[in-house]
Amino acid sequence: MRVIAIANQKGGCGKTTTAINLSSSLESRGNRVLLVDCDPQAHATMGLNVNPAELERSMYDVLRPDDGFFMGLDRILVPIRDHFDLAPSTARLSAVEQELSGADGRENRLWQAVDSLQRPYDYVIIDCPPSIGHLCFNSLRACEEAIIPIDLSLFSLRGVSKLMEIILLMKERLGHEIRARALITMYDFRTRYARQVLERVKEEFGENLFSTVIRYNIRLRETVDYGLPIGDFDKRAIGHQDYEALAEEVVGNGFAADDLAGGNGPKAEDLLGSSEAFRETLTREGITTRPFGETREFSSYMARTDLEDVSVLEATDSVFVPGGDDVEDL
Ligand SMILES: Nc1ncnc2c1ncn2[C@@H]1O[C@H](COP(=O)(O)OP(=O)(O)OP(=O)(O)O)[C@@H](O)[C@H]1O
Ligand SMILES: [Mg+2]
Repeated sequence: MRVIAIANQKGGCGKTTTAINLSSSLESRGNRVLLVDCDPQAHATMGLNVNPAELERSMYDVLRPDDGFFMGLDRILVPIRDHFDLAPSTARLSAVEQELSGADGRENRLWQAVDSLQRPYDYVIIDCPPSIGHLCFNSLRACEEAIIPIDLSLFSLRGVSKLMEIILLMKERLGHEIRARALITMYDFRTRYARQVLERVKEEFGENLFSTVIRYNIRLRETVDYGLPIGDFDKRAIGHQDYEALAEEVVGNGFAADDLAGGNGPKAEDLLGSSEAFRETLTREGITTRPFGETREFSSYMARTDLEDVSVLEATDSVFVPGGDDVEDL
């Protein structure tokens, strides 16, 4: 079983779209897939045509502090297709951020729940919220791999640097290793700005950048309204082809096959091939670029606050500093 979190605290960078469509494409390849909606916005839940208001049980019941009764993931599942289940979310899940504060083992709730799954799955895909708090920590603690969608905006990159700090911290403090890979989403080849940001992503992630690039495709937006993965709606859409290619790359453990279903899409390497020429153009026009590393902002967040307050991180420019004193109980 591979557990993959889709994370980036930058809002709207394609996490949920990736969670839904990657899950669907993995299932259509014969895998048993569980999509865990860990976001109180419940977009993955609604995007699969499940109404949160009609749910009796949700991720809230799994993650809320244990009062002696543990509700396993198996008890909340909603079947989407034969081999595709959803662990749904509701707005109530937001209460967990407060309720878990100070609770024992608060960062391990999802990890334990995934570990105690009775049903066999090949893939567990976790859709994270756009914030750094207990829900995000639980998701990262539960996964061995993370896909970080980057919509080629500088805000998205700021989200990435924060996330990478937490991943590093988990490795140092908990010995929990996560393989994090960036995925370019909503790529619009017409914008030069996108290429500039892509260059920085490549500097940061190197080979941990998916070769598959998810292009901007309006069909992906429309399918959410229909409550369907794009493949159920329009198999010819480039959005579908790109997520098929991503699934192939994920199944192949990160190594892109030459002969992908969506192999006619642009590849990150190809897009970067001309970036040197692009940089020259920028210089000529007086636009300077900084290496991505210099844009990192290391703050004293970990040194000055307890994890109970992690939800405030979203509203600040702060970043974790590995080595803060108060991460012992992570
Ligand atoms: N490749 C794409 N092309 C066009 N639109 C897209 C693409 N990917 C996502 N979108 C649209 O962009 C919006 C944000 O996407 P999505 O909800 O997947 O982001 P998110 O990271 O999950 O957001 P949040 O942080 O709020 O959870 C949605 O309206 C979605 O339909
Ligand atoms: Mg989302």
